[in-house]
Amino acid sequence: MANGCRLIILGPPGAGKGTQARQIALKIGVKHVDCGQVVRGEVTNETEFGRKAKEYMVSGRLVPDELIIGIMHKCLGQEECADGFLLDGFPRTVVQAKALDEFLDGCGVHLDYIICLEITEETAVKRLSSRRYCPKCGRVYNLLTMPPKVPGQCECGGKLEQRPDDMPETILNRMKVYEKETAPLIDFYSDRDGYLEFDGNKPGEEVSDEIVRAIREGGNC
Ligand code: AP5
Repeated sequence: MANGCRLIILGPPGAGKGTQARQIALKIGVKHVDCGQVVRGEVTNETEFGRKAKEYMVSGRLVPDELIIGIMHKCLGQEECADGFLLDGFPRTVVQAKALDEFLDGCGVHLDYIICLEITEETAVKRLSSRRYCPKCGRVYNLLTMPPKVPGQCECGGKLEQRPDDMPETILNRMKVYEKETAPLIDFYSDRDGYLEFDGNKPGEEVSDEIVRAIREGGNC
């Protein structure tokens, strides 16, 4: 696990972590690891982890650290992450961040970039309540900014759905959980080499151009 670039992307719900991570991972050639997607996949497949995680996820709470750390270490240990990865949605607590540091230390590597997206609460609520996704292929749309060509239908033919945690009351709960549990990560990481902040309120392409430029100019990987 010695070559490649290792990044994490942080930000409140709706900041555009998933949207940006997909673009950046493609442009710099690393594996995108989406922790929320991993959790949803386990819930759909009704694994033991999925059964335990479901009640936390649908109410907008975080899955307990001891559960999520095990499953993410398993993901990061896979061959497809050996030449770098962009972690989206992990770590989300200081305990998870310390566990990630220990895991990477054990592999003789470290994080090259910590990308932090900032967004106003108003924009986040508007984006999340208009987000739709395709359960068949995972593609994400937005009724306001990235609508599907055929209403309610994905380009793969799948029927679009709203995530259960994208209901207004759950969105507000996720924001509160972010402030309490995840925002402290900004202090945890802000002094590190490779820490970068971006305004996530801007149009998606503008944000990804800024991030990719900063990564290429930073010279960390
Ligand atoms: P997760 O799926 O990671 O949810 P989240 O962090 O709340 O993030 P979102 O996916 O809601 O937002 P995003 O920032 O990725 O925004 P997106 O790009 O989609 O986690 C879900 C749950 O799983 C958690 O609540 C928890 O229970 C559990 N979990 C996951 N990780 C965990 C962990 N480490 N520990 C414990 N529990 C964990 O964009 C949102 C919308 O806006 C989209 O429709 C998009 O098209 C649109 N959009 C994005 N950017 C722009 C832009 N610049 N302009 C216009 N529209 C935009």
